[in-house]
Amino acid sequence: MASDAQKTFYLETFGCQMNVHDSEKVIGTLISEGYRQVQTVDEAGLILYNTCSIRDKAEQKVFHRLADYKKLQAQGKKFGVLGCVAQQEGDRIFERAPHVSMVCGSASYRNLPEMLVQIEAGKRATGLDDRETDQCFETEFTARTNPHRGYITIIEGCDKFCAYCVVPFTRGKERSRTSDSVLEEARRMAELGYTEIQLLGQNVNSYKDPTGKKTFAELLAAVGQVPGVRRVRFTTSHPRDFGRDIVEAIDAVPTLCDHVHLPVQSGSTRVLAAMQRLYTREQYLERIQWMKGARREISITTDIIVGFPGESEAEFEQTLSLLEQVEYDGVFGFKYSPRPNTPALKLEDAIPDEEKARRLNVLLERQREIQRRRNLRHHGEVLEVMVEGKNEARAQWVGRTSHNKVLNFRAAAAPEIGSYVPVLTTGSFPNSLLGEMVV
Ligand code: 5AD
Ligand code: SF4
Repeated sequence: MASDAQKTFYLETFGCQMNVHDSEKVIGTLISEGYRQVQTVDEAGLILYNTCSIRDKAEQKVFHRLADYKKLQAQGKKFGVLGCVAQQEGDRIFERAPHVSMVCGSASYRNLPEMLVQIEAGKRATGLDDRETDQCFETEFTARTNPHRGYITIIEGCDKFCAYCVVPFTRGKERSRTSDSVLEEARRMAELGYTEIQLLGQNVNSYKDPTGKKTFAELLAAVGQVPGVRRVRFTTSHPRDFGRDIVEAIDAVPTLCDHVHLPVQSGSTRVLAAMQRLYTREQYLERIQWMKGARREISITTDIIVGFPGESEAEFEQTLSLLEQVEYDGVFGFKYSPRPNTPALKLEDAIPDEEKARRLNVLLERQREIQRRRNLRHHGEVLEVMVEGKNEARAQWVGRTSHNKVLNFRAAAAPEIGSYVPVLTTGSFPNSLLGEMVV
């Protein structure tokens, strides 16, 4: 019994979809090593946090968690820090939180089985990447949490080095999986009943097949043609590597979702250059034009950073004018947060926090208005949604459109979770649509 109790783990995930999917692979690996996943810290022998360090706030979360649970160490529980904070802080985590016994960056997950043996033996284990690794974390043990929609990582790491960004330091150099192994995983998932596949990468469209067989657009199309696959999404795209062939693939293959997330970060060419983004406002807008010219209407979303060092009021205004010009269907806005190791740390003219907050509010308010206006265009349309769940309190079903919008709807007969049903759109809000299932 005692050893059984020790072999339980609790895992909490912070950050992006890459982290969510890494956690699915880590869970699968732990289960194959004889561990059992539990849903509370109290039940667990091993407590793991898969961490994010993209902004300071995200990074602080793990240290709050670790401070909270110091007392649990007295009960013999062990703690492990995985992911981006682990990679960034390395052994310093042991100094800040001496009760932690494992620190492991994402490119070292392959070594988890050996590290687990070490910590079970009462030792400390550290797994950090040297930015030189060529290996991807491919495992047959992935424990996907959703039976209908699943992630596949096609490219790990990042070589772009945007001036504000910690990712090249936390996730190592860019390395792609072979198109054969991606397609094999997609086929296996389709056979298991998955109908939606999301291809993941920090710069997913920078994908370079090591065997040279397929471009990113060709791989997208091939995944979309796997029998049984009804929807394919991909995120996140980098504007520099966004080719017209991606738009052509979306036009040619109906299973490719008509949604592209294309982070712009700023509407000012001067700020983009300071951010080392490798494109101008005009080049970005050219890519938007390709999408606007598609046969199917493509929904476009973006990420924006306000208050990058030296961003003037006029430059911020250029970001606002870009919002109007593109008419995004969704924007993730962030206040610039200085990160360790990044070149932007050396820039002068920091923008005060209150001013960053003001700009963020203005940005999000402006965008809310655009989304309110844009969502009106769906009124009267019949859209196919994948049924994600039910909101019992509101007696509404929750669906997602190919455009990646949430469509809440009423239905005379209960639809199955994971099925695809047609819904007549009858109303909308800035962040969701409203409708009735068509029978
Ligand atoms: N400060 C604020 N936002 C950032 N992002 C990345 N690094 C930072 C930073 N240092 C944002 C970018 C990116 C998104 C995932 O997070 O907009 O696209
Ligand atoms: Fe956060 Fe970036 Fe790491 Fe994802 S890759 S968890 S966004 S720091």
